[in-house]
Amino acid sequence: MGAALRGLPLAAWAYVCTVVALGTSCIALSSFDHMDWTTLAVLAVLSVICESVPALLSSASARVSLSYSAGLASVVLLGPVGAALVGASAVVTGRRDVALVKRVFNGAQFALSGYLAGVVYRVAGGTVGLPSNGSFPAIIPPYVAALVTYVAVNLGLIAVILVLVEQAPLWGFRWGPVGQLASGQLAYGMFGLLIAAPWGVVGPFSAVLVLLPMFIARWALEQTQAQQEAQAATIAALCQAVETKDYYTRGHSERVSRGAAMIAREIGMRPDRVGAVRYAGMLHDVGKLGVPTKVLQKSGALTEEEFAAIQLHPMRGLEIVRDIGFLDEALAGIMHHHERMDGTGYPMGLAGSEIPEFARVISVADAFDSMTSTRSYRPAMSLEAGMTELRRCAGTHFDPALVEAFVTAVERDGWTRPDPVAPPEGEETAQQDHDDPSVPLRVAGEGVRS
Ligand SMILES: [Fe+2]
Repeated sequence: MGAALRGLPLAAWAYVCTVVALGTSCIALSSFDHMDWTTLAVLAVLSVICESVPALLSSASARVSLSYSAGLASVVLLGPVGAALVGASAVVTGRRDVALVKRVFNGAQFALSGYLAGVVYRVAGGTVGLPSNGSFPAIIPPYVAALVTYVAVNLGLIAVILVLVEQAPLWGFRWGPVGQLASGQLAYGMFGLLIAAPWGVVGPFSAVLVLLPMFIARWALEQTQAQQEAQAATIAALCQAVETKDYYTRGHSERVSRGAAMIAREIGMRPDRVGAVRYAGMLHDVGKLGVPTKVLQKSGALTEEEFAAIQLHPMRGLEIVRDIGFLDEALAGIMHHHERMDGTGYPMGLAGSEIPEFARVISVADAFDSMTSTRSYRPAMSLEAGMTELRRCAGTHFDPALVEAFVTAVERDGWTRPDPVAPPEGEETAQQDHDDPSVPLRVAGEGVRS
């Protein structure tokens, strides 16, 4: 919003001025008798710290501010005017990216939210001041009423400015994210009561007691997110390296990954295993990096050595990614994705249930994507023909239960085939596809091998 405010439409300026005038009058027209200035100062500082920190701890999807908890604590401890002053402290923030006009608006709208929440708290029977043992559970209904008011006024005021800035009709506004934000703010707002409750015993330290674990939890979450992003980037880089070897296999890893996950979900795999099979699908052919490109792109029959080089790619794949710790079970899927149910596959010639489940899952998705994609030596099969071919080979090549699970999932959720575009002039392409069960590999002097 910061950048958009520079060229504010007139209606938005008028709205900002109105909110600032209302926020200021809430404070200016009130009496400050019996105000606990020390508590107010502590809560205002706390609010500013919380408002400044989200810049460090924000996640892309939701930027929920912990300052809500300070605002709501001040409703209980200080009443409407105190809550308005604590809210107004949002004018001062450590975030350098926030424009002055936005700070002033923020301060005003937080002041209004705090003031109105304080009024509602009182009207609903809440007592302003330090809560005692006797305050519970009677304090909860007025607190919840104040909390809902605070969130509704705060998000309502923000939604209106967004509509005015974007000059979009109210009904065209993206209300989904606002709903998501509201639930987050309601949850964080409850921490206000946790801060206020022990204030009489431990004083301002109660804020540290409540908020420190929150900060640590959010920090840990950030670390996990960063680690997951790094893993995804590593895998994407490896996939890209493999797919540069052959124009026709671009996007193949991604589609095999999606297909493997569809099967996994269909047979009721645990979510963490679905995630692992997704990785395995992405990386199943990473071993192609260890197979000479001229072998992969050779037209005509392969020599025994070339065929052996292609057969080595699952083992090469395992060697390449073996030390990536988070892959665990995915490694078995990569190593055995060319085994066949009848035991005639490679590299180990495992049969039936000896073949790891991940490998049996990937094998189905891999063959289906290969058959339904265009190759230099044949056009793409239709989805129906691909599914018929999978069923024809069920029991000999594929696990019949997984073929049925895949067909069910594809018929229900659909499947996107890659565009049948011809490769640009001079682009290298493979003349045979080791994943294609409909056209087995040709080996010189020995007919065909699958
Ligand atoms: Fe393969």
